[in-house]
Amino acid sequence: MSDKTYPVSKETQAHALVDRATYDAWYRESVENPDVFWGEHGKRIDWSTPYTKVKNTSFTGDVSIRWFEDGQTNVSFNCIDRHLETRGDQVAIIFEGDNPYIDKKITYRELHQHVCRLANVMKAQGVGKGDRVTIYMPMIPEAAYAMLACARIGAVHSVVFGGFSPDALAGRLVDCASTFIVTCDEGMRGGKPIPLKDNTDKAVEIAAKNGVEVKTVLVVRRTGGKITWADGRDIWYHTATQVADTACEPVPMNAEDPLFILYTSGSTGKPKGVLHTTGGYLVYVAMSHEYVFDYHPGDIYWCTADVGWVTGHSYIVYGPLANGATTLMFEGVPNHPDQGRFWEIIDKHQVNIFYTAPTAIRSLMGAGDAYVTRSSRKSLRILGTVGEPINPEAWQWYHDVVGDGRCPVVDTWWQTETGGHMITPLPGATALKPGSATLPFFGIRPELVDNEGNVLEGAADGNLCIADSWPGQMRTVYGDHERFIQTYFSTYKGKYFTGDGCKRDADGYYWITGRVDDVLNVSGHRMGTAEVESALVSHDAVSEAAVVGYPHDIKGQGIYCYVTLMSGREGSDDLRKALVAHVRNEIGPIASPDKIQFAPGLPKTRSGKIMRRILRKIAEDDFGALGDISTLADPGVVDDLVANRQNKK
Ligand code: WTA
Repeated sequence: MSDKTYPVSKETQAHALVDRATYDAWYRESVENPDVFWGEHGKRIDWSTPYTKVKNTSFTGDVSIRWFEDGQTNVSFNCIDRHLETRGDQVAIIFEGDNPYIDKKITYRELHQHVCRLANVMKAQGVGKGDRVTIYMPMIPEAAYAMLACARIGAVHSVVFGGFSPDALAGRLVDCASTFIVTCDEGMRGGKPIPLKDNTDKAVEIAAKNGVEVKTVLVVRRTGGKITWADGRDIWYHTATQVADTACEPVPMNAEDPLFILYTSGSTGKPKGVLHTTGGYLVYVAMSHEYVFDYHPGDIYWCTADVGWVTGHSYIVYGPLANGATTLMFEGVPNHPDQGRFWEIIDKHQVNIFYTAPTAIRSLMGAGDAYVTRSSRKSLRILGTVGEPINPEAWQWYHDVVGDGRCPVVDTWWQTETGGHMITPLPGATALKPGSATLPFFGIRPELVDNEGNVLEGAADGNLCIADSWPGQMRTVYGDHERFIQTYFSTYKGKYFTGDGCKRDADGYYWITGRVDDVLNVSGHRMGTAEVESALVSHDAVSEAAVVGYPHDIKGQGIYCYVTLMSGREGSDDLRKALVAHVRNEIGPIASPDKIQFAPGLPKTRSGKIMRRILRKIAEDDFGALGDISTLADPGVVDDLVANRQNKK
């Protein structure tokens, strides 16, 4: 923990929407009188039928979460139509291509037309309220159009990250029985094409074998690359939208109607379909986008996430557009054509608010300051980070070099499940400490509990729970409410358990220490060790696998795999390569193992449970401190594991 503190500067304070006194007063009201507080702030979006009820939530029993439950609204209307009169000709989306010579600006009026046309195409294909639409897209504006078109007609979107494999896509199609896909011929990242349509074709085949027949694949032409075509199923986006009507009435949605499903990894089993609904989600992401980034009308805002993750949903599309902001979508990668790309884009589009991940910061820090200092960055006012704990060195570099020491850094802690920011500084209100996500956002009641569930007071180190509901919270696991209750509300009765460990210092500041469950965070991408293990054991040479994370300078965590082979199979470098390729095929490149250790046996207790604590220590090359191994069925396996470790420092 760094002991430096950065008070709010005079310039930041003069400009800020929320100062410390306001934060304190609003925060108190938000947790003492949530009905009054959210009843007031719920009005920041337009409702076709105003709500009369605000909060109706319970974290016990069947767990039921309802906000603004008798109100009606439409997310697409709030993100587009209501801005047309005041800022129809303002840019809504700046598209910056992978190729630095390609960019495009889409005004709110144009956005309205694109979204209406697409919504009409979907309707003509039979998509209606409640139907699941899968969006498997690169970072191009059509991805946002597709999300908003779904919201407009009440369809529920499931965006699948474009880096996922056909298998992973198929699993998600099947889980929510989605029969309509929006994709594109190929994506383009770092100058290399990504075969999205080919992947889709394969996924559709796998889904069919698992009982889900995809009826329509709508294909955006991005590269013009060669693809195969299934007549009767595949439709070109450009031909279909060209002839579609530019008017499409938004469907009034109940506040608690589903808006989207987003699959995310947990400590066990397959990824879960996190379900978010309409009213509370939009209120929460719009409000947090405004206050956390101190967003003012006219600001150019850029979040570098991918729309395939929750950050892209909440803080590229829904939050910014609900606020009438100009949001930048970047198709490419931070190191193409070179490591100065981010800073060039900031100058080119005069970006005021910049939001990225610690892994990107660490990797660009490694490239050297010259890439940064050759740009001006004078437009920047606020910097943000998300996705994983940021180490104080990276925070310091971001603050001092990227922000020239003048821009506050908002380190925002939150999750797919939480919908929006949970623990975060507000630029004008919160003194910063490098590496700390600082204080709770409005309505959020963090609690630290020990392993027995006792609530810890004052400065403490424990498991992070949230004591009461907030409007942006997920409502259920799609199709499996029991799993929702089990995963989040059974470890500590009556509280939402985040899966994160956390410290609170004497000033009441929160410091997230990382996951305390079997979830990995690799370059800000969330992954279950169980998913990687099940990919490994599906290879015919593998009999058993155990996967743990280990500290990695750039990625935050690396993936370390212990693999026991079928009898008669020999470990070799070729087999290592084959296993890496196999995992990439099963899940996607983000899950590529960093280290594979062939192990004749894994350390198990007499009841057969793998002792991951020992595996983690060996992966960290910290085997001097293995602790008690006397409960192992065969303590001898440890010597072999240590002798053959793959991460010798
Ligand atoms: C981690 C991403 C520390 C955390 C929005 C959480 C963070 C998981 C931070 C959720 C942060 C996210 N500091 N850790 N500022 N932000 N995390 O669902 O472990 O992809 O539980 O949501 O990322 O990842 P997810």
